[in-house]
Amino acid sequence: KKRILSGIKPSGDLNIGGYLGALSQFVKYQHEYESFFFVPDLHAITVAQDPKELNQRSREIAAFYVAAGIDPDKSAIFLQSQVSAHAELGWIMETQAHFGELNRMTQFKEKSDGKEGVSSALFTYPALMASDILLYQATHVPVGEDQTQHLELTRDLANRFNTRFGKTFTVPEAIVQDIGARVMGLDDPHKKMSKSNPNKASYILMLDEPSVIRKKFSRAVTDSDGQVRYDWEEKPAVSNLIEIYSVFAGETTAAVEKRFEGQGYGAFKKELAEVVIAKLEPIQQRFHEVVNSPELDEILKRGAQKASEEAGRTLRAAQKAMGFVTFN
Ligand code: TYM
Repeated sequence: KKRILSGIKPSGDLNIGGYLGALSQFVKYQHEYESFFFVPDLHAITVAQDPKELNQRSREIAAFYVAAGIDPDKSAIFLQSQVSAHAELGWIMETQAHFGELNRMTQFKEKSDGKEGVSSALFTYPALMASDILLYQATHVPVGEDQTQHLELTRDLANRFNTRFGKTFTVPEAIVQDIGARVMGLDDPHKKMSKSNPNKASYILMLDEPSVIRKKFSRAVTDSDGQVRYDWEEKPAVSNLIEIYSVFAGETTAAVEKRFEGQGYGAFKKELAEVVIAKLEPIQQRFHEVVNSPELDEILKRGAQKASEEAGRTLRAAQKAMGFVTFN
């Protein structure tokens, strides 16, 4: 049985990188796989969060799931903090992860670099992420490229646990798309598109208005060659824009090149903005309908119930395998 688990952290405003690398994949795969989509709020607090903002952003990520087209009748949509098995298995997996392994995680290095008062949870975070996935016996995990190292660690931990204590966890595989798995900043094609970039023109937010989207794309860096050609070596900035166009329009990169053959960047960027706006407008509309609605509360409650049953089963199996005293 094929099963997916994935999630997007509620730690800032969602940009189109998260949509391309993750959310649009969730929507696509929900029909093919039994799916669990969660809001990793426990992960968000590895760095300081304002309580009000965490609360609102958690709802927002869940609302984006629904607004983008995830069907809550088919897939479980839930908040991580409402399924206590995550924290419990998280602790267990910390006992399986080696210090040296965690110390090699490039995301930890990037996020802690030069900072004071880095939380110990930021360091052990990948063990919790492994638990998120293993609790649901997920076979596949759709993620952007920056999460592949964490997925490798998850596989190692699953194998290690299974070898020591007997087969308990499914060893999951990452699904990383060829196109859109690493969306770069509009100001610099060598830096990931990220909301932590102080330059607001470097990213497009899911809730940006049409006029803002047009302006940001019109200012996006390109190159002096003038041709809409997909070539990451020679033309990274243009290739990044082609990937964004490709995923939003549902066309191959070759089709995009052909469409804009002999046209300059001006025409390309204009149409790119329109393609993105056309896709985001209905998502934004639905988002505003659901984000603070009782409908969303119901979806999250139902999701947490389904998730708790599934996760509880795996947690008990893991506890039993390790030798904890368990009843029935
Ligand atoms: P997070 O919240 O940073 O990002 C959510 C997803 O979006 C992808 N992504 C991108 N893809 C392409 N281009 C970008 N610029 C871009 N920015 C973000 C990420 O690769 C990710 O797939 N640790 C995870 C959350 C998590 C999780 C899990 C994911 C916790 N437990 C279990 C999957 C399974 C994170 O911080 O992602």
